[in-house]
This record gives sequence, C-alpha cells and structure tokens, in this order.
Amino acid sequence: MKILVTGGTGYIGSHTCVELLDAGYEIVVIDNFSNSQPDVLDKIKMITRKDFKFYKGDVCDKEILQMIFKENKIDAVVHFAGFKAVGESVIKPLMYYRNNIDSTLSLLEVMNEYNCKKIVFSSSATVYGKPDKLPIKENFSLKTTNPYGATKLMIEDILRDLYISDNDWSIAILRYFNPIGAHASGLIGENPNDIPNNLMPYIVKVATKELECLNIFGDDYDTLDGTGVRDYIHVVDLSKGHIKAIEKVIKDKGVDAYNLGTGRGYSVLELVNTFMKVNNVKINYKIVGRRPGDIDACYADPSYAKEKLGWSASLGIEQMCKDAYNFIKKIEEM
Ligand code: NAD
Ligand code: UD1
Repeated sequence: MKILVTGGTGYIGSHTCVELLDAGYEIVVIDNFSNSQPDVLDKIKMITRKDFKFYKGDVCDKEILQMIFKENKIDAVVHFAGFKAVGESVIKPLMYYRNNIDSTLSLLEVMNEYNCKKIVFSSSATVYGKPDKLPIKENFSLKTTNPYGATKLMIEDILRDLYISDNDWSIAILRYFNPIGAHASGLIGENPNDIPNNLMPYIVKVATKELECLNIFGDDYDTLDGTGVRDYIHVVDLSKGHIKAIEKVIKDKGVDAYNLGTGRGYSVLELVNTFMKVNNVKINYKIVGRRPGDIDACYADPSYAKEKLGWSASLGIEQMCKDAYNFIKKIEEM
C-alpha cells in the first residue's frame, strides 16, 4: 500500500510518516517547506531506517500532483498541508483561504482524475467553536470564529459534498484536539521559529531561557483553578490515529468525522506544574488578561474513534511534557 502524505515534513505529518513506515506502508511525501525544514526527511529515515520518495512542491500546483500520481500508484492520501495559525489567519485571511482551500481542491481533483478516492483529512476541534457542553461529541453543532477555522469547516463540507456526488469515496475527517510532545527519539518535534502562539512551544522556550516568562492568559475562567482547560494529546498517539483512519478508508466507503483527543482536560497551571516537576526545571510565569477568542474549556469525547477506528490515546501528560523538553534539549546539543 502506497500512501501520499501532503505536508509530511511538518509537525504532525513527520510523526505520521514514521508511524506509516513502521506499520509497513510505503509513503510518498510532498511539502513546500513553508513551515518545515528539509532535514526532517533525514530524521524520519534515521528513526525508521526506511527510505521514501519526496517531492518539493506546492499542493496547490496540479501539475506536480499529476506527476506524483503518474509516477506512483497511490492507494490513499493523508492531507496535512495547510496553514494553521489562528491569529495570522485573522490578519491574512486571503492567504489562508487561498492555501488551505486551493490545495485541497487541487488535490481532490487530481485524486479523482487518477481514481484514488481514499483520503484522511486534518481537521481541528476549532470547528466546534465555543461548545455548549462538554465533553465534545462529533454530532455537536459546528461553527467557527476565525478564517483558519472557516477553512477547516469549508473543507469538511467539500468532502461531504464530494461523497454525496460519488459514493465511491472513502473519507475520514480527523478533528484534532491539542497535539503536543515529540517523538521519543528526540529527533522530530515542534520548534516554531517565531514567538509561539500555542502553550507548549512557549513553555519549552521559557524552560530553555530563550523566552523569559510565560504569560498565562487569564485565571478567571470557569475551571478548577481559573486557567483555560484543554485536551492535550501526545503527537505520537495522534499519529497512530492516522494509521487506524487509513485502515478504515481502505476498508470502508463513506465519509465520517472522528475526535482525536484523550477525553481528559488539563488546565494551563496543571500543564506548567507537570512540566516543571517531570523535567526538573523552573518556568517563570505571570497571569495576564484573557486572550481574545479563547474559551474556558475544551475536551473530547473520544469514544466514537474508539468504537469505529479501534483507536484511543495511551500516553499521559507527563510523557508529553518529558518528550517536548527532550526534543528541544537535543536541538540545543547539536
Ligand atoms: P505544520 O505547519 O507543522 O505542517 C504543515 C506542513 O504543510 C508544513 O510542513 C508546511 O511546509 C506544509 N505546507 C503548507 N502549505 C503547503 C502547500 N500549499 N503545499 C505543500 N506543503 C504545504 O502543521 P501541523 O501542526 O503538522 O498541522 C498539520 C495539519 O493539521 C494542518 O492542516 C493543521 O491545520 C492541522 N491541525 C493542526 C493542529 C495543531 O495544533 N498542530 C490542530 C488541529 C489541526
Ligand atoms: C489553539 C487554536 C485552535 C487549535 C488549537 C489546537 C488559537 C486561538 N486557537 O487553541 O484553533 O485548534 O490550538 O492546536 O490559537 N495559553 C496561555 N499562554 C500562552 C499560550 C496559551 O496561557 O502563551 C493558554 C490559552 O489561553 C489556552 C491554553 O493555554 O487556555 C492552550 O492554548 P493554545 O495552545 O494556544 O491552544 P488553544 O487555545 O486550544
């Protein structure tokens, strides 16, 4: 079985390439390095001791996609390529709509052309907006508050319409909660160049003293300690979910969405305290005002993914904190 991985050198894509290769799949990867580095390719090969084909290119570009499908007999696609920063999407909406929607349309058109109709798509818990109750189930109403989330929702609609028009398609929509952590080897992980928007990359940069102090956005939320609660999931667990989703689309036709989360929420302070404890480092932090658009709490009911995909997360928050720090320390040693 040969799987095309778009955005395969990115954070989640690289971990999923490792899991796919370890599970015995052949992979073909396309990425334009707009948010990743070429050396990730060697790291994936080092971890798995397996080789694979790579194409440097833009998924919006149908010509390169046609070349990939002509040169390789692709059985299914995992589509990660896209921009993902919520704040940036508010400032540059056209860039987000163009990249996320255009890449998906080009990909689906070329897949259709080559009669490859099995796809796993990276959606996000952001499609639930501010949920009315918790934990979040897949059948909750969908709404978004920013252009990034709107692209995810639009792509979900495109995929559902595609299936309605042609029941030969097999489509798994994966709604990720908050992926953190890194591969146990410490060779791949998340290391944004700019000042991080998300919590874990920020904590890590405070731990390494690259940044001075973590700003905790609000301690007056309706949660146990007043700080925001999220469903953090180890990126390796999340990647394993893609293997189960690939198995599903290979076996069954249809379109369906699955929450990939642990089902357990942790507050910002719980995450910070766990990070300090397991890594024996100090994280300076101060409480500041709320970040606009943030919600009190968000965590998944992951039982549908367990029932339909036979997947559930197994790594806990301590492991997530250890692996995130181990990855950054390895980079510093290099
Ligand atoms: P990432 O930015 O690390 O990876 C995305 C990869 O896609 C990068 O390597 C980038 O260079 C590449 N890319 C972007 N546009 C491209 C294009 N037009 N052509 C070719 N390559 C392109 O992001 P990630 O965290 O690995 O996320 C992967 C997917 O999962 C994204 O679609 C993202 O929206 C979604 N997602 C991520 C999170 C998260 O917290 N990381 C949460 C929910 C959903
Ligand atoms: C972000 C995205 C969301 C995406 C999700 C998963 C935003 C507004 N939303 O959500 O679309 O689906 O990641 O990747 O970016 N926090 C701090 N200080 C910081 C950073 C964060 O206190 O410097 C707090 C936040 O207020 C929140 C928690 O930490 O309570 C997690 O924040 P973050 O990692 O940005 O994830 P989400 O807000 O869940």
